[in-house]
Amino acid sequence: MLLLKDLDLEGKTVFLRVDFNVFLDEEGQICDDTRIRAALPTLNYLLEQKTKVVMASHLGRPKGQFNSKLSMKPVAQRLVELITEDVILAPDVIGKDVDTLKENLRVRQVLFLENLRFYEGENNNDPEFAQNLAEGIDYFVNDAFGACHRVHASIVGIPLYVKKSAAGLLVTEELEYLNFALYSPQKPYTAIVGGAKVSDKIPILENLLNKSDNILIGGAMAYTFFAALGYDVGRSLVEEDKKDLALKILNKAKDNNTNFQLPLDHIVATEIAPGKETKTVDDFPIPSDMMGLDIGPKTIQAYGAVIAQAKTIMWNGPMGVFEIEEFSQGTMKIAEAVADSSALSIIGGGDLVAAVTEAGVSDRISHISTGGGASLEYIANETLPGLEALSENNNDND
Ligand code: 3PG
Repeated sequence: MLLLKDLDLEGKTVFLRVDFNVFLDEEGQICDDTRIRAALPTLNYLLEQKTKVVMASHLGRPKGQFNSKLSMKPVAQRLVELITEDVILAPDVIGKDVDTLKENLRVRQVLFLENLRFYEGENNNDPEFAQNLAEGIDYFVNDAFGACHRVHASIVGIPLYVKKSAAGLLVTEELEYLNFALYSPQKPYTAIVGGAKVSDKIPILENLLNKSDNILIGGAMAYTFFAALGYDVGRSLVEEDKKDLALKILNKAKDNNTNFQLPLDHIVATEIAPGKETKTVDDFPIPSDMMGLDIGPKTIQAYGAVIAQAKTIMWNGPMGVFEIEEFSQGTMKIAEAVADSSALSIIGGGDLVAAVTEAGVSDRISHISTGGGASLEYIANETLPGLEALSENNNDND
């Protein structure tokens, strides 16, 4: 796979794919611009190298339809505030007008395309759409780590139609951290895995079982394990059809001598809503009208002790429904424990980015991934479609 520094960039027109899929509030204002800032080193590098940059991202899931609420306008405006060079917002993604704008682009100018997902061809990886995106482009640079797990035209299609393709600086940095955890972690290596569904986490758990010393489980997914072991979990979320798989994972952990820990106590309530009465339950059964919504204080303490000993930490998925104050303590305290540890710590993006920001510990985490789904899939499969596409298609007709 080529890296940015491998390209001879001066004077070239470069298509820069970024992941600016940011949250917008009701008024269409950007809630968190981390993903925009994270791509600036690559953009600035390209501009310093005297290139013409055609930049594009997806925003939300407009399903192949133009949707003014998902226009790239607010994102382009934020970009204008963050860089000194000229940014032109294109009225569309492909077509005559866009091609003319591409032709007239000057060195050190940025043409920002509209939302790639306004066209069905993006999600379907339509070759004609990919070819249209590649119109007038010399090189493709993928810095959209968060979208590298998608088999979409702007991720895996474009490399077929340009002279060279390379990974951007953000993609390179993300891979450095994830590869460290995958291939050369310092021991003890502790994985913390949470979230609602065990089904989302099976591939990552299977990979981590082969690599980590400790796996600490939190979130509603814990209750599928408990139910599989025969405990009465009340109304907690259980994936009935995943109980066998949960038992297999527990057995594999035993065979591998992996310290696989489930919560020791639970914060329970009758409903997932703020202001509800909560209880701390030490053992089973969980009352029949209640469900587990966070890990309890004994679990926080026990997990904290394991985290304090760790030299490498990989954390994916919250410990409870942290968006609701009553069920947030587990995630907040584990965030503090991870930040306090001297381990190299990696947070796998997604919901946890908001949680560690709220806990005020982001700057004490070694790496916070910009890709929730992508980092999960990379740890599970050790590759991603977008990375494969960069490696396979370098048409040496420069
Ligand atoms: C993300 O937010 O995880 C990425 O931008 C991918 O978005 P998607 O899940 O809509 O493909």
